[in-house]
Amino acid sequence: MKWRTAIITVSDSGYEGWREDKSGPMIRKILEESGEYEIIREKIVPDDQDKLEEVLCVCADREKADLILTTGGTGFSQRDRTPEATMNVATRNAPGIAEAMRVLSLQVTPRAMLSRGASVIRNETLIVNLPGSPKAVKECLEFILSSLPHGLGILKGLDEECGGSA
Ligand code: MTE
Repeated sequence: MKWRTAIITVSDSGYEGWREDKSGPMIRKILEESGEYEIIREKIVPDDQDKLEEVLCVCADREKADLILTTGGTGFSQRDRTPEATMNVATRNAPGIAEAMRVLSLQVTPRAMLSRGASVIRNETLIVNLPGSPKAVKECLEFILSSLPHGLGILKGLDEECGGSA
């Protein structure tokens, strides 16, 4: 069984076609190489909080994504609203994934502290915000990817909770 995954690139310039989206395809490549994920949706949306909330809800509720990965819009620009949209559609917080990405990314660049990315659960869907650059996407996915299937398995009621083992 593969995890049903939606990839959402959040970028005004990508949406308008002024800049080629390299981060969405980077996520696709890494997920396909892992062999554990089925990409059910790939979308570019502008940095518009309402629009992003709507897309997250459609992917989670109607399209039954197990996992939604966003890229972009996590920084300090006034237009960066990805974490706010993500937290607004959350039913539960799952901060450890975002915390791990920041801590591990700080070993690569001190600018990792500038990503406000969130990780949350909406019902049975895990939503994770990745930063916007392809480099950051690759680094962050490498940090978290091996732990996601176990979390998703527990979220979907397929895996046992950990009983003290790693
Ligand atoms: N995390 C990793 N692993 N590698 C990076 O190069 N770039 C940082 C940070 N996180 C970076 C990273 C930078 S420079 C910024 S401004 C923030 O992510 C926010 O990026 P975003 O606004 O494109 O989402």
